[in-house]
Amino acid sequence: MIVQNTNENILNAAKIINRGGLVAFPTETVYGLGGDALDPHAVAKIFEAKKRPSFDPLITHIADLESLDRVAKIKNPRVYDIISHFWPGSLTIIVPKRDIIPDLISSGLPTMAVRMPDHATALQLIRESSGALAAPSANPFGFLSPTTAQHVEENLGNRIDLILDGGPCRIGVESTVLDLTKDIPLILRPGGLSIESLREVIEDVEVYNRTTVSPSSPGQLKMHYSPRKALYIVDSADDVSTRSGAGILLFKKGPHTDGFAAEEVLSESGDPVEAAATLFTALHRLDAAEGTNRIYVEKVPLTGLGAAVMDRIYKASKK
Ligand code: TXA
Ligand code: MG
Repeated sequence: MIVQNTNENILNAAKIINRGGLVAFPTETVYGLGGDALDPHAVAKIFEAKKRPSFDPLITHIADLESLDRVAKIKNPRVYDIISHFWPGSLTIIVPKRDIIPDLISSGLPTMAVRMPDHATALQLIRESSGALAAPSANPFGFLSPTTAQHVEENLGNRIDLILDGGPCRIGVESTVLDLTKDIPLILRPGGLSIESLREVIEDVEVYNRTTVSPSSPGQLKMHYSPRKALYIVDSADDVSTRSGAGILLFKKGPHTDGFAAEEVLSESGDPVEAAATLFTALHRLDAAEGTNRIYVEKVPLTGLGAAVMDRIYKASKK
């Protein structure tokens, strides 16, 4: 349902988000599909609504600088100088994340994407909800990014709780993504803030290009999480006969798991949305579990978010 971005409707939208719902909202770049960034279940619902075949990391949107320190661990002092020039605005920065941000937002990476949009409706919605909204562009996977509320309605209307209409987006392309986790700032995605404008402030900024970035650094661009321990996919925990020293990741609670050194359950009730919300945290825990040198993962049914969960599990199983 599309509603105008009146004060009352924004307050109502914030209530929906605080209850774990999803609201599409305008920013200066494109419309975002927002949910509470601190609620893993809401984040999983965003992926489900977009029908993304895998979990690409999402941008966390904030409305003030205190929130940056609440969600991210800023060690690089250049960060504050850079954002003082471009925030609010169409610059997304990659910085180390804090634990309060669910692993699903960052696809299990230790870093996260953050931006402060330059749009009064977006800023008010963020302030009135938890102060941190996860929001990818509000389009189904493989579609163009939406720049009007009608675009969102046509393609996602039946999968989200509310669409706040703020008119057409001023910029119309997504934000520029700048990695600030290394010595040299690196543009990962060109976008609404031009490279020229960035260069006026950051003289040494580089643009990521597969052919020019040195082969010693692609690790920094690895966009999915793999555990350090060997990971094997099994149809069922029952198939694993040698269990000592092994961790098991179950889709739902099962009766036959005696003997494993560590166990995690993705969803007690077997709900794929909940499984997605828990996946990366469970993998991190098993990777860190003492007394285990390998992880077995039970297959998850490929319905709904199960397909995205299995995509990530297959990637994690490849060494
Ligand atoms: O303008 C925009 O940025 C819009 C509006 C709604 O704010 N949002 C948007 O989000 O375009 P999305 O999810 O479609 O794009 C997120 C981008 C992707 O290119 C993703 O790879 C990158 O941010 N990203 C997120 N977390 C990252 C991380 N930890 N490291 C590197 N790249 C990351
Ligand atoms: Mg997008």
